Amino acid sequence: MLPNGRAAAVIVLAAGEGSRMRSAIPKVLHPVAGRPLVEHAVRAAAGLDPEHLAVVVGYGRDAVTAHLHELSAALGRPVETPVQAEQRGTGHAVACGLDMLPAELTGTVLVSYGDVPLLDTATLAGLLDVHHRARHAVTVLSATVDDPSGYGRIVRDPDGEVTGIVEHRDATEPQRAIVEINSGVYAFDVTVLRSALGRLGTANSQGELYLTDVLGLARDDGLPVGAHRCPDPQLVEGVNDRVQLAALGSECNRRLLEHWMRAGVTIVDPASVRVDLDVELAADVVLHPGVQLHAGTVIAEGAQIGPDATLSGCAVGAGARVVRTHAVDATIGPQVSVGPFAYLRPGTVLAAAAKVGAFVETKNASVGEGAKVPHLSYVGDATIGAGTNIGAATVFVNYDGLAKHHTTIGAHARTGADNMFVAPVTVGDGAYTAAGSVITADVPPGAMAVARARQRNVAGWVSRRRAGTRAAEAARAAEAAQAPEDQHEQHPEQQQERA
Ligand code: UD1
Ligand code: MG
Repeated sequence: MLPNGRAAAVIVLAAGEGSRMRSAIPKVLHPVAGRPLVEHAVRAAAGLDPEHLAVVVGYGRDAVTAHLHELSAALGRPVETPVQAEQRGTGHAVACGLDMLPAELTGTVLVSYGDVPLLDTATLAGLLDVHHRARHAVTVLSATVDDPSGYGRIVRDPDGEVTGIVEHRDATEPQRAIVEINSGVYAFDVTVLRSALGRLGTANSQGELYLTDVLGLARDDGLPVGAHRCPDPQLVEGVNDRVQLAALGSECNRRLLEHWMRAGVTIVDPASVRVDLDVELAADVVLHPGVQLHAGTVIAEGAQIGPDATLSGCAVGAGARVVRTHAVDATIGPQVSVGPFAYLRPGTVLAAAAKVGAFVETKNASVGEGAKVPHLSYVGDATIGAGTNIGAATVFVNYDGLAKHHTTIGAHARTGADNMFVAPVTVGDGAYTAAGSVITADVPPGAMAVARARQRNVAGWVSRRRAGTRAAEAARAAEAAQAPEDQHEQHPEQQQERA
């Protein structure tokens, strides 16, 4: 033990292939609650602030190491990545990890696995504490489970003292009846560990170097060994296949939702809500059914999300309302209204009290305070000023086939329905545009832009060219019903033409 009770090192085993996942992706990179499995293990270990933190990598090590480099930067601490080139068993894996640590290292080494997502710092700290207080050479974290099959069993003598661990495959029938299992997490005195690892044999059903044998070897040396029972067996459950991945994902989510509800978040239907670990929710946030909040999402007080919304990397301001929306890397200001059926793409910034309504897609777009894009529009590469209203069915034409261009609409502008803003183009403050306009040139502040063909009516066309149809009949009836003087009252813009 180091003077302050710190662990000298934590070694996380993550070299195995995880063949039962049947995946091209290394098992430990499969995510639970938005974080790869191995990240759960590393964060739990880092919480102890050990002198050394090493993750033994092997299968798919380039991808695993790349993730660990990023994580090391995020945690602001070194994470070493010793390599176990060939998977010769858990004992061999730990030996590979020890090889990377200083030879003169003394104190306690913890070993854990990269595929146990619920194992937390508190559980590791509890193990460390028991190990130190009992002055053990080896302490194994055990758990009592309903179905122990597949696990190594903790073998005790008639006095209840731990004598060793026997693997399921190597166990006798009476041993298989033992329900206290080896979690695979241990605290070791590093000197004892080194000595025992050098003496491991492969005389077992898998022909592997079993880490579990260290316990029996230490005991045979007359050293004190013991087990610390984890009161919550789910914390030590590992992922071996995708069924367990889903089950532990659900359990992790259930615990997280419970945490948020206790912190003051209303979750109307927890069974249909998923929240990743790297999400922050303020008090009085309401999550309606069918909500998924992915990493990097932060939601302020009183905002209501859902029903049916998926947000990734989004910031949502206080009191905002986001209904049936898919949003990625968007900033949604306070009191903003989004949806139903909106798609907010990266670079969307909605200022306070703005509105993005039904069937609207935004990308790299700033919508000013109180401005509205209420219906059926695409807003890409645009700045919309405060208080402006964008008419229904507007398209910001941002792409010319080669490059993206920007459109700026000023404050308090009123653009007509069914406009196209062909970027780059600027519409001044307080300007209006007529419905159906294709705006290709700048509009000065306060001007009214009309950019569409003038309408012409070809009188009598239907009776001449569609004679005998219902349309012609209806037209004749309407004409007959009209007073003769009405027939001469035409709008000045409408021209009578014959075709
Ligand atoms: C191991 C334990 C068993 C325990 C169980 C808990 C041994 C011999 N058995 O069995 O007592 O109940 O964990 O889940 O230790 N790994 C390597 N290199 C290797 C082999 C494994 O890095 O050469 C890693 C794997 O990636 C995995 C962990 O070690 O994260 C456990 O390996 P696994 O093969 O799953 O061991 P189990 O058979 O489950
Ligand atoms: Mg396993």
